[in-house]
Amino acid sequence: MSTNSSNRHEILERNVGLLAIFIVFAISWGALVEITPLIFQKQTTEPVQNLRAYTALEMEGRDVYIREGCNVCHSQMIRPFRAETERYGHYSVAGESVWEHPFLWGSKRTGPDLARVGGRYSDEWHRVHLIDPRELVPESNMPGFPWLEDNVLDGELTQKKLEVFRNQFGVPYTAEQIANAKQAVDGKTEMDAIIAYLQSLGHGMK
Ligand code: HEC
Repeated sequence: MSTNSSNRHEILERNVGLLAIFIVFAISWGALVEITPLIFQKQTTEPVQNLRAYTALEMEGRDVYIREGCNVCHSQMIRPFRAETERYGHYSVAGESVWEHPFLWGSKRTGPDLARVGGRYSDEWHRVHLIDPRELVPESNMPGFPWLEDNVLDGELTQKKLEVFRNQFGVPYTAEQIANAKQAVDGKTEMDAIIAYLQSLGHGMK
């Protein structure tokens, strides 16, 4: 650093008034950078056009997904880079996640990103894969989840879950969807639920 510039810094540090002015300037600049994006927040919290709320069965499937820790190995966040969009499809946008609580974006990818996996395989493919992944992908190190076939849902809490999403998070569930929630999942297996959930992933951008 030249002597000249270190002298200038000394002037600043020795002059309390001047220093105060520069501090205020620095903080204001920081605030501007933080606050300006909030002015455009509405645009980023607006649901994408095709977004719909999870059905009762998909909602139960999502909870199984979280319980089994699928999100520990799978992200749901396609970054806007060519290598990602060529492999997975359109990059993830904010408006797809406005009703996600908690969001499951993740960053750890032991397995592939699942943000657009909906519709890529048949229900039967998922069923076989989830029971024993090596049946379909011999080199897979994903664990099997065979018990999902045996666990039957009773739907005792399903209605409550939908109500919480409507009342706390503003997800537009209709009174009818909430009234029929238990009936919609009663007797279905956790396997049915998680497959329904997987098949729904990415629907907002279709
Ligand atoms: C230990 C890490 C791990 C866990 C936990 C895990 N997976 Fe996987 N998953 C993988 C790997 C690795 C692959 C790629 C090989 C394969 O297809 O089996 C994969 C592939 C997949 C695929 C196929 C994706 C594609 O585009 O081909 C789906 C769907 C999937 N996993 C769903 C799940 C679900 C649902 C759960 C939770 C019940 C889960 N995974 C848990 C590691 C994991």
